[in-house]
Amino acid sequence: MRILVLGSGAREHAIISSLLSEGAGHDITAAPGNAGIAAVVPVVALDPTNGDVVAEYALENAIDLVVIGPEAPLVAGVADKLRTRGIPVFGPGKAAAALEGSKTFAKRIMDEAGVPTGRAVRAGTLDEAIAAIDEYGAPYVVKADGLAAGKGVMVSADREAAIAHATYWLQHGSVLVEEFLAGQEVSLFLLSDGHTVLPLSPAQDYKRVFDRDEGPNTGGMGAYSPLPWLPAGFVDEVIDTIALPTIRQLAAEQKPFIGLLYCGLIVTTHGIRVIEFNARFGDPETQVVLPRLVTPLSGLLFAAATGGLGGLPRPEFSDEVAVTVVLASEGYPDDPITGRPIIGLENVRDVTIAHAATAASGGGFVATGGRVLSVVALGTTFAVAREKAYAALAQIHLQGGHYRTDIAERVL
Ligand code: AMP
Ligand code: GLY
Repeated sequence: MRILVLGSGAREHAIISSLLSEGAGHDITAAPGNAGIAAVVPVVALDPTNGDVVAEYALENAIDLVVIGPEAPLVAGVADKLRTRGIPVFGPGKAAAALEGSKTFAKRIMDEAGVPTGRAVRAGTLDEAIAAIDEYGAPYVVKADGLAAGKGVMVSADREAAIAHATYWLQHGSVLVEEFLAGQEVSLFLLSDGHTVLPLSPAQDYKRVFDRDEGPNTGGMGAYSPLPWLPAGFVDEVIDTIALPTIRQLAAEQKPFIGLLYCGLIVTTHGIRVIEFNARFGDPETQVVLPRLVTPLSGLLFAAATGGLGGLPRPEFSDEVAVTVVLASEGYPDDPITGRPIIGLENVRDVTIAHAATAASGGGFVATGGRVLSVVALGTTFAVAREKAYAALAQIHLQGGHYRTDIAERVL
């Protein structure tokens, strides 16, 4: 297949690695990709958020499938432009991508579909926000309504900090004040063709920047998969009570969800609750889910894009476990310092590296963003996978670089 992957992060690198690992001779191009991706497939300097440009490229190059990695092109309606021109695309159109792009929209869909989620109040003014903050009490949960690159959510016991967060994000639109939900978090990815869903293997993300979940939220500092502590029947329960009702509600509103439904869940003592939906693969969870996928990814993505999931069995996963640890630049997430060389990548063994923000420079790589790369290790046990991942990180040097040392520790 001729496949065009849109995006430039470690998630896209992991998607491309998975497609290449099929050994099916796919002709893969990334737009715009990054230096790590450019080392394995051709890259093209297209703006992935410009639907007309992407559609022209896809038609001129006889692309069989476009896979949209990040949220920005989805929310910008790139999938709609491609579908209108008859190009198979994995990724929802603008209307369904609002499930991620607007928390108010997501809450409304969940309400209509009877999907379990935290109580929340939408506030358009500071007075409304403060009233809701005081109604729900501490710990306070305040969320920007729109896309915020992982920085829109604040969970804090500090009322002044909650109010400051609301004040800041009210400049950009409305905010949601939500009840606090306590429990383990689960990221479950489901492929959807608009009618049917097929689950991938659950993963857990580490959102806070420092060990023991301290410091501010980030895009994600590490992940592991599978989750051996999940109760039997968990995935089926999510399909029946969350994923299918959501997909059906969207279909009933003529907003078919074709792509990856990311269910961000909390397992509370009262049951499973949705904390967020995303409309795309998660990063860094993808880096631990896809290396364990045995079923060829291209067939699944193409079937989802073309309405053909109904006849397929559930994707199969290997018994190996996977751990990924993100190496971040000094100052991430607030103010990352970039441009520094990454030394020692050639010395790592027994892991794969998914590049997130790197550029080629003088025969090596420099860091160009906050999350620089994901080290991914597989193993027969979590102890083995962790050991491999951290041994590799010890070989990699980035001035001021930092990473969490407790990824997957809780499952040992
Ligand atoms: P989100 O960007 O919506 O995934 O939120 C980022 C993180 O904030 C989540 O991974 C949770 O750790 C936390 N969070 C979000 N909503 C809640 C909530 N209602 N209760 C507790 N923690 C939450
Ligand atoms: N890892 C969280 C996200 O992809 O949104």
